[in-house]
Amino acid sequence: MKKIKLIMLTLIMLMSVTACGNSGAGKEMTATTPAVSQEADNSADEDGMADKNGQKASAENGNVLIAYFSFPETDGTDTDAGASRVVADGELLGNTEYLANVIYERTGGDLFAIETVQEYPGIHEPLIEQAAEEQDNGVHPELSTHVENMEDYDVIFLGYPNWWADMPMPLYSFLEEYDLSGKTIIPFNSHGGSRFSNTIAEIQKMQPGAEVVTDGFTVSRNDVGNAGSDLNAWMEELGY
Ligand SMILES: Cc1cc2nc3c(=O)[nH]c(=O)nc-3n(C[C@H](O)[C@H](O)[C@H](O)COP(=O)(O)O)c2cc1C
Repeated sequence: MKKIKLIMLTLIMLMSVTACGNSGAGKEMTATTPAVSQEADNSADEDGMADKNGQKASAENGNVLIAYFSFPETDGTDTDAGASRVVADGELLGNTEYLANVIYERTGGDLFAIETVQEYPGIHEPLIEQAAEEQDNGVHPELSTHVENMEDYDVIFLGYPNWWADMPMPLYSFLEEYDLSGKTIIPFNSHGGSRFSNTIAEIQKMQPGAEVVTDGFTVSRNDVGNAGSDLNAWMEELGY
């Protein structure tokens, strides 16, 4: 099973080089977006990942929560290894984390990093193996961060990378932890070719009482660093 997954992932990665150059990104970034460049060396370190925090102070629009899971890998910069990181204003960010930050800046909501008690390996191979094993065994890992005032939020931007054509398992833990009935969930993701896969339907299934926006924002990991203007245009359409 693991071997089949590895072959599938390799195919996805190869497809992403040829097919994903324009999946929702690629234009110039706007002035509201932090300057960003694709990470070009292996300088990622523990600090970069540990800097992800729980909730930051709210600006003006207190009813928006931007909850995301993201995992910047510490090795490799080529397509095989995922290029799972960008540098914005000198800070190392995972791809989805970067998108979350752009949304945070525009909406003025609260930013929340979904994190697990047991850290994932930063190295690509062990990471994809652990993720595959978790998925095969239906493991919903224990989370180390929790939203204490979920009742205060009406709108939840929910961000995650595509992992094995699905949400990372910590997203299942997150969606199980809260009843989001009556709230609006707005998905966004980054991927290596599979876009959202079937994840939006899965979110709808897990949160039947919530309104889930099906036209979420999805971008290839190859284009995350240039996704600002498309992301801003998408948010504008949503009314932000
Ligand atoms: C464990 C694992 C599994 C992945 N599986 C897929 C996949 O099935 N389809 C796909 O398009 N991309 C896949 N990717 C690529 C990620 O979706 C992509 O690199 C994403 O931008 C990572 O975002 P992050 O930096 O926020 O973690 C996978 C990456 C990892 C680490």
